[in-house]
Amino acid sequence: MQIFLDTANLKEVEEAVKYGFCDGVTTNPSLIAKEGLDYNDTLKKIAQMVNGPVSAETVALDAGGMLGEGRAFAKLHKNIIVKVPLTKEGLLACQFLTKEGIRVNVTLCFSANQALMAAKAGAFIISPFVGRLDDIGQTGMELIREIRHIYDNYEYQTKILVASVRHPVHVKESAMIGADIATLPYKVWEQLFTHPLTDAGIQKFLDDWKKVPKKR
Ligand code: E4P
Repeated sequence: MQIFLDTANLKEVEEAVKYGFCDGVTTNPSLIAKEGLDYNDTLKKIAQMVNGPVSAETVALDAGGMLGEGRAFAKLHKNIIVKVPLTKEGLLACQFLTKEGIRVNVTLCFSANQALMAAKAGAFIISPFVGRLDDIGQTGMELIREIRHIYDNYEYQTKILVASVRHPVHVKESAMIGADIATLPYKVWEQLFTHPLTDAGIQKFLDDWKKVPKKR
């Protein structure tokens, strides 16, 4: 499973790339607003740092507007892929952009039928939001299971990107179900490496090492 970082923070991207666990990046208007930086400049910098897709989200509501924004994003860097919302207009834009050779990430997916339509529109990536479904008392991971099943039934090549990830259990379940990608907030990315027994084990070995006689 590929691991993307869900951030517009350059330091976080730099850190994940340094350790070799950053297959791509997803951004959205909320993440970029948090950084207070110019969207295009930030996207370009991230795209230069990462060897993989970097999602840039459109804000127009009509297909024509999305096409304009999407084409401009795609010109920034070869790694940039265009994010459009899962609406009829978004899926129309997806079909046009895909025909032009621009890869599309269809975002804000909350149902299996929406995911089916995105695959039929030729989406490169579908982004179902698990955390936001959990937030309203539904089971986000169940949606991932359904989409995996449907895509496998018809051999759709659209990649399932698990979005709105809140904790490491979401990551483990994504991998067990067979999602293609999970996009993680930096905090969750860090949590993947840690376990209290690993820390305690290191401490014990270091303490015991001090007791080993050393030749002078
Ligand atoms: C990523 O592509 C999504 O925009 C992001 O994961 C949404 O996460 P949130 O529900 O925590 O805002």
